Amino acid sequence: MPDINAQVSGESQTCRIFPERVDIEPFIMVIFGGSGDLSRRKLLPTLFHLCHDQNLPDDFAIIGFASSGRSDEEYRALVKKALEEFSTDPVQSGCWDRFSRNLFYVSGGFEDENSYRRLSARLEELAGPAGKPPKQIIYYMAVPPHFLPAIVKRLPYCGFCRTAADERLIIEKPFGRDRASAAELNRLVSQAFDESQIYRIDHYLGKETVQNILFFRFANSIFEPLWNRRYIDHVQITVAETLGVENRGRFYEEAGVVRDIVQNHMMQLLALVAMEPPTGFEADYIRDEKVKVYRTIRSMDEDYIRKFTVAGQYGPGRINGHAVPAYREEKDTSPGSTTPTFFAGKFYIDNWRWAGIPFYLRTGKRLKKRITEISIHFRQPPLRLFGTTCELRDRNILVLGVQPAEEITLHIGVKHPGVGNQLFPVNMVFNYERDIHDNVHFPLAYERLLLDCMKGDHTLFARQDGIEAMWSVVDPIIQQWENTPVKEFPNYSAGTWGPAAANDLMYSEGRRWRTW
Ligand code: BG6
Repeated sequence: MPDINAQVSGESQTCRIFPERVDIEPFIMVIFGGSGDLSRRKLLPTLFHLCHDQNLPDDFAIIGFASSGRSDEEYRALVKKALEEFSTDPVQSGCWDRFSRNLFYVSGGFEDENSYRRLSARLEELAGPAGKPPKQIIYYMAVPPHFLPAIVKRLPYCGFCRTAADERLIIEKPFGRDRASAAELNRLVSQAFDESQIYRIDHYLGKETVQNILFFRFANSIFEPLWNRRYIDHVQITVAETLGVENRGRFYEEAGVVRDIVQNHMMQLLALVAMEPPTGFEADYIRDEKVKVYRTIRSMDEDYIRKFTVAGQYGPGRINGHAVPAYREEKDTSPGSTTPTFFAGKFYIDNWRWAGIPFYLRTGKRLKKRITEISIHFRQPPLRLFGTTCELRDRNILVLGVQPAEEITLHIGVKHPGVGNQLFPVNMVFNYERDIHDNVHFPLAYERLLLDCMKGDHTLFARQDGIEAMWSVVDPIIQQWENTPVKEFPNYSAGTWGPAAANDLMYSEGRRWRTW
């Protein structure tokens, strides 16, 4: 990557960004669920991308482990097809040849000990002759959560990795189904692995714009003094998707929106916005501060959940001009399903900084647009100097756009030119693509996270206490929703902003959701 010398202003600072070199040790990655949706869409394209960018060492191997019987060659063909569909890099012959040479496959059931013996033999073969430096072995759990205990239990007993000095375990979210199962899973995992070997992945933390939240807050002196209950009226976090459940009906029926998005992605975003400055930019300092946020989120009783959360499920509708089916008509969902695909709710963080300030969270599938953003809504100025006809319609709002627009926007009011005294709303915008150009490489979320795991950096991964604390926040909601399913499902049409009750929640408090 070339050096970038950004002249920051006419008079002041020259900012020299040094090229970043990543030195990755030889490794073998075993992907449990190596032919599944996540592997085909994200993991394998990301590994291919790393190989394409020459970021992988000469000596690496990827073993797909899954139940269907296939040979290495058949697996390579499956991976090639997936790359042609989902990779951002062209599947050229030179690059593909190198990547495919290092792809292997082991078929077997997750509960069948013999399969682990076969995997073990394969690993030993690939780990190289004794005397050579040992390889790092990474087990990637790209499987539905209910398979995890079976796999984790069997890993240490198969005599794997005789030659491996270093083993790591990457676990996909959701980690468990509730606090109790997450704690049990943690107990199992920690019998086989030390916490320093465990990487609980949440791909939202790999997004540049999400990482930038901490930089924006703590590298600039002008916003942090305002970042509290005295100046902020409320905060909104939206994770809106146009996608439905795609081929994941079976998983989604068991999970629902709170387990799929709120417990992990949204709690992470909330913590980054609300946390106190960490003592240093190291994994545990940051994770300590996040856990404190989860622990101070006000717990919700039945009455609160009834009044201040909204469940939704999409019916048929239109997305980008195309008719799409209802959730209940999707593959592998039940015709009478009561699984929620939409969540809206109000949270309070009962600490000194945030006492009394509502955080409104909203997420859903098949909404009108794909948008993830955090908006900080500031209080109105104490005095209205400019008369009633020229009030600012909106307060000052600071918008941290995560996707698709990767930008930070500050909504302010200025004088409209002319003889009158009229206020006019305008925006100050920083946009990643526009303002930081010159061959800057934006790593894919999984790229950053896989490299961090290989380097042994835990900063962007969740810690056990954090996972359990996040479940404690959402468990009461899940329980109550499951005990009293909404009879009116489906209650929003695909292609809208969700159920009317979500708007009512805001109107009744004199506020409204942002719309686009
Ligand atoms: C995943 C969820 O974690 O995140 C999916 O399981 C969801 O249901 C996806 O579609 C959204 O990710 P992104 O990066 O597209 O916002």
